[in-house]
Amino acid sequence: MFYGCSPLFLAKNTLRFPASIPPAQRGHRPHGTAGQIPALGRKCTMDLHAAYPALADLRARARHRIPKFVWEYLDSGTGFEATKARNRTALDRVGFAPSVLHGEITPELTTTLFGHDMPLPFGIAPIGMSGLIWPGAEGHLARAGARHGIPYAISTVATQSPEDIAPDLGQHAWFQMYPPRDPDIRTDMLNRARTAGFTTLILTVDVPSASRRERQVRSGLTNPPSITPRILAQIATCPAWAIETAKRGMPHMRGLDKYANAATQGLSTTAHVGYLLRTAPDWDYVKWLRDAWDGPFIIKGIMRPQDATQLESLGADAIWVSNHAGRQFDAALSSIEVLPSIRAATTLPILFDSGVETGLDILRAIALGADYVMLGRAFHFALGALGARGVDHLIDILAKDMIANMGQMGAKDLRSLPPAIELP
Ligand SMILES: Cc1cc2nc3c(=O)[nH]c(=O)nc-3n(C[C@H](O)[C@H](O)[C@H](O)COP(=O)(O)O)c2cc1C
Repeated sequence: MFYGCSPLFLAKNTLRFPASIPPAQRGHRPHGTAGQIPALGRKCTMDLHAAYPALADLRARARHRIPKFVWEYLDSGTGFEATKARNRTALDRVGFAPSVLHGEITPELTTTLFGHDMPLPFGIAPIGMSGLIWPGAEGHLARAGARHGIPYAISTVATQSPEDIAPDLGQHAWFQMYPPRDPDIRTDMLNRARTAGFTTLILTVDVPSASRRERQVRSGLTNPPSITPRILAQIATCPAWAIETAKRGMPHMRGLDKYANAATQGLSTTAHVGYLLRTAPDWDYVKWLRDAWDGPFIIKGIMRPQDATQLESLGADAIWVSNHAGRQFDAALSSIEVLPSIRAATTLPILFDSGVETGLDILRAIALGADYVMLGRAFHFALGALGARGVDHLIDILAKDMIANMGQMGAKDLRSLPPAIELP
């Protein structure tokens, strides 16, 4: 039995809430409407917007349903978590002048990216070991991306391989790469991603050295998780997570399985990953990848205007402004603070993330120059709270919040936002 949880324990703690909605193929249910609770076999009339009006409500529920060591992995920053906090405070300091007497408007959330019409201006950022955070996360998120027509980015260190996830991918499937050292592995990874249906490549460059993430260390998390009595006690309080994880088996980085060989035999998972993936690529690596990938190519983790300019000259298709959610460098500026200077330095599309929690945050980033906004933790809070239907609900919350705030500003579409004002 996984993690030593007894069947009796699991039976007694049967889910009281559905862990997931049916897969995409079975159709998309409008949010906030009645849903079936499989365990009880009767209709649930819960209005999700009444029960969970904001991401904060999903986060609070997820916290109780995800074991502590996993929660700390998801939620932690590095150091004093000053950068993580700064992401929030700096977003709050972006204001707008409200508009009145503009008559009725019906705000449109559509935009374009890489020549595609997009129904919404936000998508799902890559999260390593997503399936540890919530069982089956990669599949749930990929299907949600497909249902809603928004990008889903899978991490190199996901718990599903590109092949596993291929049937779930929609039109905007993005593959995030932590750069393999070995050129043959690089080429193989790109081929696998392309064959599986990923259209867009992301190279993440803001992990030039390991980050300490002390809070995560304190929680007892190791890779793979060691089953100590302390970890077991944490799992025992989270039956929904435990049951689903037991069904699927211990999560690990399945996309990298193929590259285990004689040289990596006997290494711990962490050492294996460290051996395979070079954390600090250079400009030549970018050039090599540019030549090797014929679809859109995004560089993720850019915080300086001069880097954006240079990447544009090397043929990147987009710049992704991010401080990795405050997980890497506790002296980094917030990503919203650097966004305007990067906007001024490049004509490329800009993706933006780190600390986005609301539709208003998305509007703030767009007003300051972002073309598209990505969220990482938020989607995992939603999964942890309500399973797959939490993801649909979060998308609905974000869209409704954007529409409500655009109404306050008299903006009929994303091109009509008023100028952002830096509040004191
Ligand atoms: C638990 C966790 C794991 C992450 N893993 C990756 C990863 O494997 N690859 C990557 O490029 N970024 C990774 N990121 C960064 C996210 O892609 C994204 O930049 C960040 O989460 C955005 O901030 P937000 O979570 O506040 O929305 C990770 C972030 C978190 C919180």
